[in-house]
Amino acid sequence: MALMNAAELLEVYQRRALPSFDVGGGCVDFVEASFMAAEKAQSGMYLSSTPSTVENYLGYDGYVQIIQMIAKKYPSVNYAIHLDHAKEVRYVENALLAGYSSVMYDGSHLNLSENIANTRVVIARAQTVGATVECELGTIGGKEDEIEGMGSCLPSFDEVMDFVDKTGACLTAPAVGTVHGHFKGEPSLKWDLINSLKDANGNFVLHGCTGLDSESIQKVSQAGFVKFNFATALREAFKDGMLNHIQDHPEDIKPFAYLKGGRLKLTNYMSEIYKLLELSK
Ligand code: 13P
Repeated sequence: MALMNAAELLEVYQRRALPSFDVGGGCVDFVEASFMAAEKAQSGMYLSSTPSTVENYLGYDGYVQIIQMIAKKYPSVNYAIHLDHAKEVRYVENALLAGYSSVMYDGSHLNLSENIANTRVVIARAQTVGATVECELGTIGGKEDEIEGMGSCLPSFDEVMDFVDKTGACLTAPAVGTVHGHFKGEPSLKWDLINSLKDANGNFVLHGCTGLDSESIQKVSQAGFVKFNFATALREAFKDGMLNHIQDHPEDIKPFAYLKGGRLKLTNYMSEIYKLLELSK
């Protein structure tokens, strides 16, 4: 078992695509399901949550502690404790003080020079505790937690490369046409940009994987993206599994029993994600 930053995960797994599972601020069943799926796949992962979820649930320290407690049961799994979409530097600070190994500073709502300047400040701070930084360029649509994409603004290849150069961030999430949550209508990805990043100098992240078909995820993985973010579909799998259990066993009022129903369905869903990413190698 090892808590790793993104650079270490990239090295250990030789830049293979890894999932980033949103674990709902440290919900025990989500964390446990993630480790079970990662152990089965003999792979690594990012365990992720947004600041608002963490703050409304266990807090930054609680989030780190619950993950590390469960991680002890899965010694073969390497993982990052990741902060998703910190729109303000103070959220990053809270996470780093609590012991996160990876943080996303999302300055995509700012003008370009402010986004770059803040990202650099965050990187310098993260380096002091051995954590790595993900940054974002362009606008990822849809809404998740408190994060709402304002319309759609997709960068060009040159803009992405300039951003990677100027920030020096370990991971970069360029907007490529995905949305957080379900797509309204058919997904329309910017394939020319995605494919042009294949041999480019950078480690790219795909946000908004819910609702994308398997073939698209595999194609993005083949284009060399290294981190695939899943949230909404995980929440739905867990809720379905739990409700199915309650429907089939209405007499069962012990929480562990119906939570286990959710966890089982979630673990299976996560295992499918690993298979998909593995197949695309
Ligand atoms: P989805 O909710 O679409 O899976 O997106 C997750 C995500 O990108 C988290 O950053």
